[in-house]
Amino acid sequence: MNILLLGAGGREHAMAWKIAQSPKLTTLFIAPGNPGTASVGTNLPVAANDFEGIKKAVLEHKIDIVVVGPEDPLVKGIVDFFAADAEICLIPVVGPDKTGAQLEGSKDFSKQFMFRNNIPTAGYLSVTRNNFQEGVDFLKSLQPPYVLKADGLAAGKGVLILNNLDETIGELKAMLDGKFGAASQTVVIEEFLSGIECSVFVITDGVHYKILPVAKDYKRIGEGDRGLNTGGMGAVSPVPFANEEFMRKVEERIIKPTIEGLISEDIVYKGFIFLGLIKVNGEPVTIEYNARMGDPETEVVMLRIKSDFVDLLEGVAYGDLDKRTIEIDERSAVTVMLVSGGYPEDFEKGKEITGLDKVDGSIVFHAGTTLKEGQLVTNGGRVMAVSSYGATKAEALAVSFDNAQKIQYQGKYFRRDIGFDL
Ligand code: AMP
Ligand code: GLY
Repeated sequence: MNILLLGAGGREHAMAWKIAQSPKLTTLFIAPGNPGTASVGTNLPVAANDFEGIKKAVLEHKIDIVVVGPEDPLVKGIVDFFAADAEICLIPVVGPDKTGAQLEGSKDFSKQFMFRNNIPTAGYLSVTRNNFQEGVDFLKSLQPPYVLKADGLAAGKGVLILNNLDETIGELKAMLDGKFGAASQTVVIEEFLSGIECSVFVITDGVHYKILPVAKDYKRIGEGDRGLNTGGMGAVSPVPFANEEFMRKVEERIIKPTIEGLISEDIVYKGFIFLGLIKVNGEPVTIEYNARMGDPETEVVMLRIKSDFVDLLEGVAYGDLDKRTIEIDERSAVTVMLVSGGYPEDFEKGKEITGLDKVDGSIVFHAGTTLKEGQLVTNGGRVMAVSSYGATKAEALAVSFDNAQKIQYQGKYFRRDIGFDL
């Protein structure tokens, strides 16, 4: 079968790497992909948001299944676009439709969904300019720190956690006044939850589901989880605190009510559900949903899926996920992200990358790289994810750190403490 994967980051390289191993695969295309995905498939010069371009590619290359990596095309309605077009409506797209993608695309929608379906989550109030004063009163009723979230997509920057009440009220006003554009016309104020976080991934055909390996990502730029938020500096799987008992609670209290809620609300959801969870006093609480896989979590999750990933994608496409099996690798997997100097603030691109040929024992997923006159150069804040297996997390990390040293480019930085808190 021919598969088209949409996206261009480390997540997509990791998915492409796994898909390419399937005996069921004829050709894998990635749109637009990156130099990493080009080593396991065929890149197409089509943006993940260019629906007409994607349609053309699907027809030209006789694509059997489309897999959507990032949230943007989902929130913009790529699934609905396919469904409404007679030429491509029978081609399955792995990803939720526009309404389902609102679980990620609108924090207000996802909070309402969780409350309607009795899914444990923090208390909240949604605020617009029309009920600003109610928002201020709600903030005054809470203990610091205060959590403000832009309702819409804000490239991972839309969540503020602040200690000072006056500053928070000022930020609430700034957000409603357009700090994050249309994304913050509505702001969700949440109770602050204290605990340790993990990422749980579910793949569903809309009725049946499978739980993928649990991961934990590291978002802050600095060691010890200090400094600014990034797109992710590393990840590990498994997560020791997400033990059998915890995962049983996650399945009963969060996953099942989520799937049942989607069905009862007539939301067509065939794809990945990313549950951002926090363990509070031993109990799982939902922080957020995403309508896609996580990055950099996918760079460890794909390593730990031992069975054929395409078999699961087929299960979603054909609605028989219950007939498919998932086998998990017992080993630990970790990924260490190499980033550009200065990231997540200003950084330079176009730095020559060398030393990949010296890497031994790790799988290097490209995130922000490109080819310039035949030379691999940096092309983003997050450059490469150095992923490794180990009998233990420590063993896997030692391999990734060792290989991270061998890859060279001007301004390279990575965190040497991934997994430190587990
Ligand atoms: P989100 O985009 O909703 O995942 O939020 C980004 C990050 O902010 C999360 O991964 C948490 O670390 C933090 N966060 C979000 N909501 C809360 C909350 N209610 N309490 C504590 N931390 C939160
Ligand atoms: N690693 C968090 C995310 O993908 O949103």
